[in-house]
Amino acid sequence: MIKKILVPLKDKSYSIIIGFKIFNKKNFFSFFNIKKKYILITNNTLLKLWSNKIIQILKKEGIKIDVISISDGEIYKSIKTVDYIIKELLKKNHGRDSVLIAFGGGVIGDITGFVASIYQRGIDFIQIPTTLLSQVDASIGGKTGVNHFLGKNMIGTFWQPKIVIIDLFFLFTLSKRELFSGFSEVIKYSISFDKKFFIWLEKKFLKLINLEKKSLLYCVQKCCKIKAKVVSLDEKEKNLRSFLNFGHTYGHAIESYTNYKKFLHGEAISIGMILASKTSEVLGLLDTQKLKRIISLFKKFHLPISPPENMSPNDYLIYMKRDKKNLLGQLRLILPNRIGEVKIYDNINEKIILSVIKSSFLQI
Ligand code: GLY
Repeated sequence: MIKKILVPLKDKSYSIIIGFKIFNKKNFFSFFNIKKKYILITNNTLLKLWSNKIIQILKKEGIKIDVISISDGEIYKSIKTVDYIIKELLKKNHGRDSVLIAFGGGVIGDITGFVASIYQRGIDFIQIPTTLLSQVDASIGGKTGVNHFLGKNMIGTFWQPKIVIIDLFFLFTLSKRELFSGFSEVIKYSISFDKKFFIWLEKKFLKLINLEKKSLLYCVQKCCKIKAKVVSLDEKEKNLRSFLNFGHTYGHAIESYTNYKKFLHGEAISIGMILASKTSEVLGLLDTQKLKRIISLFKKFHLPISPPENMSPNDYLIYMKRDKKNLLGQLRLILPNRIGEVKIYDNINEKIILSVIKSSFLQI
């Protein structure tokens, strides 16, 4: 069964297609145009496992397709890799009518979208996300970009894909660590927007981590629906969309400080969401019982909850001050005031942040 969710963005509207083993089904080809040239952007790990299979399926149907493969990992989400991909596109004489296909996780999606947005002033691209994290979040909404060594996602654009094709089959190929990391973004939607979904996750966590298909389909669909609605209401993150950054200010600081090597994105923002929830508690916005319930849900999905020991409270501030949400140099955080609702809080006193981090080493 194939589900379809629309991301309504006027002339930039597109569909999210969700199903199981879609790339083995006949209508997989209906998403491609025989008259265009495609370039599958993937990583070396996926190339061996799945990319070649997809390329063969498409070639058999007469679709013209090249492949560009990059190294696997967040540290390759860089300007250097963008330059490499552009060089390959030029060597292969790709023009404005060529279409990029991002086949991989968040790194591949973000970097492919970024190249699509700048190559010859912008070309089309398709998202085929293969990790849970990219299926429920990164592949939808057109945020593209690369990291700078001074900060995560500091270079980028908004550039919407033409379609997002989500095949749940790929979730069965992930390592447990990668899968759990994706559930961090799932939990984020529930705390930020939907208490019923939070309660559902508390009940269904075992089914989800054991990849029970019905629960998985419901879960991915639910997240995609929330994301589609948020993006359609606030594409360029003027307000509502920033709620999706709950936990990311602390989380990005952790990722940048540890040079993207120690934590997967979902792991870093799991710690980030806990630090943000603790900030809420310290500010008197969230009661202690709810904080405990939030921490317990992260634990159910085997996500890390303690900040890295070698990172001092001041180290957080260095990175948090560069956060894209900040206005006039003042720290802005997305904080929960109950389960199912977050808000933007401006002018957060640095002393509060320092004390939250210090106390986290002692209490969590
Ligand atoms: N991942 C957050 C956003 O797309 O806005």
